[in-house]
Amino acid sequence: MAKYEKLSSAMASKAALLLLFLALLLVFILLPSLPLKLDNFTSLRCSVPEPRAGNGVIVSLGSVKSPVDSSRLAQNEKFLAADDSDEDEDEGLVTKDEHVKWVRAQMELARLGDPGKTAHEWHRMRKGINPRTREQQLFDLRRYHGISHYDEHENRTRLPCPGELLVEEHHSNYGEPWAGGRDIFEFLVQASGLKKHHRVLEMGCGTLRVGLHFIRYLAVGQFHCLEKDPLSITTALLYELPAQGLLHKRPLILRSEDMDITGLGSGSTYNLIYSSAVFIHIPDSLVWLGLQRLAPRLVLNSGRLFVSHNMKFCTRMPADECKSKLAQLGLLYLGKHTHDSLLFNHYEIWHEFSRLPKSP
Ligand SMILES: C[S@@+](CC[C@H](N)C(=O)[O-])C[C@H]1O[C@@H](n2cnc3c(N)ncnc32)[C@H](O)[C@@H]1O
Repeated sequence: MAKYEKLSSAMASKAALLLLFLALLLVFILLPSLPLKLDNFTSLRCSVPEPRAGNGVIVSLGSVKSPVDSSRLAQNEKFLAADDSDEDEDEGLVTKDEHVKWVRAQMELARLGDPGKTAHEWHRMRKGINPRTREQQLFDLRRYHGISHYDEHENRTRLPCPGELLVEEHHSNYGEPWAGGRDIFEFLVQASGLKKHHRVLEMGCGTLRVGLHFIRYLAVGQFHCLEKDPLSITTALLYELPAQGLLHKRPLILRSEDMDITGLGSGSTYNLIYSSAVFIHIPDSLVWLGLQRLAPRLVLNSGRLFVSHNMKFCTRMPADECKSKLAQLGLLYLGKHTHDSLLFNHYEIWHEFSRLPKSP
């Protein structure tokens, strides 16, 4: 009996050793190779083409050397090599379907899932990274709460900016999302056939929601604007231009509320003049005065004037009268366009005009 007990205890310890060996094999050899296989599977499962390389490539810090990331890097390098879009100087000016596919592929490869749909879901995701509302951020900023700072007497800030601007309250000044500015830019660039060396005038550029995109794209000094609101101009000069690194583009932003365009100089003409959500807010008589002064500033034939939302300044009068008034100013109505937003359920309406061939 004792012999059998000895035998079975020897077998039990051999089995335990075998189990230990298998566990070690699993932990040190099989498991490390598993993520690579999962990641490859995710890439294969992705129904869109492999991602094009770009500035937004997601590679998590601290794990760049892991097999997962180096395989992602290799994927992107392959696409960089195959990508000939650098030759097109206007690449990136308009968001193409292939760019949308790329960003979707990045979301999938980074296993991000669907963005939260409720405020609760969002706030749960922000946990642990000091989430602040704008008000809380402003409160912290004013008290230097958690912010490395100099004492007041040795403050080295070269262009001191009010806290309200730093927390970007003005991005909500006009109701519609700030991102809509990019939609408007993309539409107008395409519709007017704009080039980098062209000159653009915005009537009522506000806090540069749209203007920033033009300023970034155009050559130095080629973006002009007429704006009546001092807070908007302050915001543009003290926050948006410096924060976007665009001071060197020297846009001409004139303060004016009565369509006085003398500050633009007598000779300047524009390839594109546009007014986004402005003419709907001002008296018809002021709109007509503006059109009278702006029409001769449009480049003949190719120059375009775009007005957003509606043209009630014209349609409020009989159709014939509206048409002849436009003709007297040397303007030709070319038609109505709509343009869908990239990021939210919204479309813009635009009315297009050019100069009559024999305009005054
Ligand atoms: C709804 S906001 C739109 C701002 C900007 N265009 C945008 O899309 O974000 C209207 C802007 O037109 C400006 N504005 C209104 N009347 C104006 C006038 N007579 N001359 C110049 N700007 C004017 C306002 O101050 C305001 O900044």
